[in-house]
Amino acid sequence: MSRRNFIKLFLLGVTGAVIAPTDVLASMTSSMAGGVYYTREAPGRWHKKVAAHLPIIEVSGRSVQTITPHEMKGYEHYIVKHVLLDHEFKFIAENMFDPMKDQAAVSAFNLGGYRGRIHVLSLCNKHDNWLSVAEV
Ligand SMILES: [Fe+2]
Repeated sequence: MSRRNFIKLFLLGVTGAVIAPTDVLASMTSSMAGGVYYTREAPGRWHKKVAAHLPIIEVSGRSVQTITPHEMKGYEHYIVKHVLLDHEFKFIAENMFDPMKDQAAVSAFNLGGYRGRIHVLSLCNKHDNWLSVAEV
């Protein structure tokens, strides 16, 4: 391999390494919707369950309130938790529910200094993970 070709390959590799993570993340997350987790657009096998499972995100200043309008029927059927993730799906915070005490799946998160896209997961013990997105 000539030195010129080696440098071209090296530069392509560096460029690919810089660009690929964003593209790979976007590609991976979109292909997981409807299988690993569910969204309004990709409800997969739970297409009749969207209204009760999709987390509703309300942003007010530096606070995020999340509501999942789902029944809390003891351990039989309930929302296990809400998880707040950043734009790269990294963990920020979570709120666990006690189905014997909590009457509704409502969480309040403080964003601190974080700005950008947030993802909120809502986990049902029967109908899996549901994802909503908002900009803060
Ligand atoms: Fe459910």
